[in-house]
This record gives sequence, C-alpha cells and structure tokens, in this order.
Amino acid sequence: MEIVTQEAELRASLSAFRRSGLSIGFVPTMGNLHDGHLSLVESAAAQCDRVIVSVFVNPMQFGEIEDLETYPNTPEEDEQALLQHDVAILYRPALEDVYPSGIDSQTRVVVPEITEILEGKSRPGHFTGVATVVNRLFNQVQPDAAFFGKKDYQQYLLIRKMVLDLAMDIQIVGVETVRHENGLAMSSRNSHLSGEQFKQAAELYRLLKEVAVACCDDNKKTTEHEEKGIKQLIKIGFVPDYLVVRRQQDLRTPEDDDVNLIVLVAARLGNTRLLDNFEFVLK
Ligand code: PAJ
Repeated sequence: MEIVTQEAELRASLSAFRRSGLSIGFVPTMGNLHDGHLSLVESAAAQCDRVIVSVFVNPMQFGEIEDLETYPNTPEEDEQALLQHDVAILYRPALEDVYPSGIDSQTRVVVPEITEILEGKSRPGHFTGVATVVNRLFNQVQPDAAFFGKKDYQQYLLIRKMVLDLAMDIQIVGVETVRHENGLAMSSRNSHLSGEQFKQAAELYRLLKEVAVACCDDNKKTTEHEEKGIKQLIKIGFVPDYLVVRRQQDLRTPEDDDVNLIVLVAARLGNTRLLDNFEFVLK
C-alpha cells in the first residue's frame, strides 16, 4: 500500500493505473476506521482493480459547536487496518491540499432539497461541506466507482444527486450498514459512549425495526407510528432529534402509492448524537 499526501503524487500513481486499463474504486473517509469503513473497502476491492482510500477530517462539514476538536484521530491504527485489505493507495491530504486558498475562499457545491431536511436542518452547512469535499476528492481521484455507507443514508443520496446533476461519470455504490453484535450501527462516535450507554444505544435499531413492522402491519399510518417511536425513544433515555418514515428515493413524505420506505432516526444519548435507519417495503 502506497501512502500519499500530495495531490501530484496521487495523480502520478493513478495515471499509471489508468494507462494499464485498471478500474479505480474510491472510499472517502475521515479516519478512525472500523469494520463499517472496511466493508466499503471490501466492496470496492470486489468490484474494482485498484482501491484508493482517503482519510481527511473535513473542517468544512463540522458546525461551530460540533466535535471537530475531539474527532478521533488514529493514523497508525488506520494504516494497520488498511494493510489487512486490498488497498493500493491511502491518500492522506493536508488541509492545504484540499483547500489551497483556504476554506473561506473555496468554491462550494450546494445540493438543493435533499440537504434542506433532516440532517441538513439539524446541521446547517454540513452537507455543503460534504458535497464540496467529496467533489474535490472525486476530481483528484477520478474514480470509476465510489463507495458510501447507507448508515449515512442522506449523505449517500446527496452524493448520488451531485454526481447526476454535475454529469460526473462515477458509479455511486451504497453499502449496507455494519453493526455491532447488539445491533448498534458502528460509528466513530460510539467511542464516546459509556459501557451502559453502549447497551442502551442498541435499543435504537430495535425501535427502528418496530416502527417498520408497525407500518407494514397496518399498511402505513406513518405519523402515528413516528409519534409512538419518538415517545418510546424519550422513555428509554434518548433526546430525539427526529424519527420519521420517508420514501427511500428522496426522503420525502410518502405518497399513498409509495412502497419503498425508510425509517430514519437521529437522537442524542448523553453527549453523543447517534444516527441510524432501516429500509423496508410495504407489501
Ligand atoms: P466517515 O464518517 O469516516 O464515513 C466514511 C464512510 O463510511 C461513509 O460513506 C459512511 O457512511 C461509511 N460508514 C460509516 N459507518 C458505517 C457503518 N457502520 N456501516 C457501513 N458504512 C459505514 O462520511 C464521512 O466520513 C464524510 O462525510 C465523508 C464522506 C468522508 C466526507 O468528508
């Protein structure tokens, strides 16, 4: 595995792959890698000839009161984890390589609609930071395919929309959420949970499935089930941000004939904000 920090070096290695006709799969991350990230790497390796992983903690996507300062930084562990997988290049750019003229002067990519709801509402500016950095990384790597976790479902949809709207020739692949044994979705932020909170956090996934089953049982009436779910969340000690049933394709409120649905939740447990979702189909 080659470890690269400069854009020029990255381009040189990538053009050698392209000259040899090798396809390139790309996995953008912010590091502190766990099995969720590594399953994206495995999907990329299964589908593409060469896998590029980037690690860059993107300040533009963190709000003023968010946890940029405390975001876990584990470069040695990340490197070791990637060495166990089929990765050609680990790209670890410095801030200046990603934002050469500084963050404030960087051209932004603003994806409308999908970024204005749910996570976009709770974290103003977050998705513009995500789209801007991913767009820049895409231009540096120019992958054939890029891999995103469905755990961050709204992020996955917004990247798909950006690629379509900007006519980028990149296949966006959504990868299923990897969970701990107790059902909790793996996340770098889980390291902030106490032992007790870790157990409690598993209730989130159980509750999502319960809401999905309730919707299937009476073939919709989603608001009622959303409200019940929120009450339940509060009862078990969460501070909910939202728990909603939406359609999978654009996260809008389902119409009568929509059957491909998803229940999404964001809730705080202590100081940790947890995010999860569950896709289901009405029969
Ligand atoms: P990060 O949180 O490091 O996540 C990198 C990728 O790993 C994302 O596509 C995310 O959805 C995926 N991922 C995280 N936990 C997962 C899990 N339990 N199962 C499957 N996939 C999982 O998301 C970001 O970084 C950033 O916003 C980024 C796209 C890199 C832009 O800065």
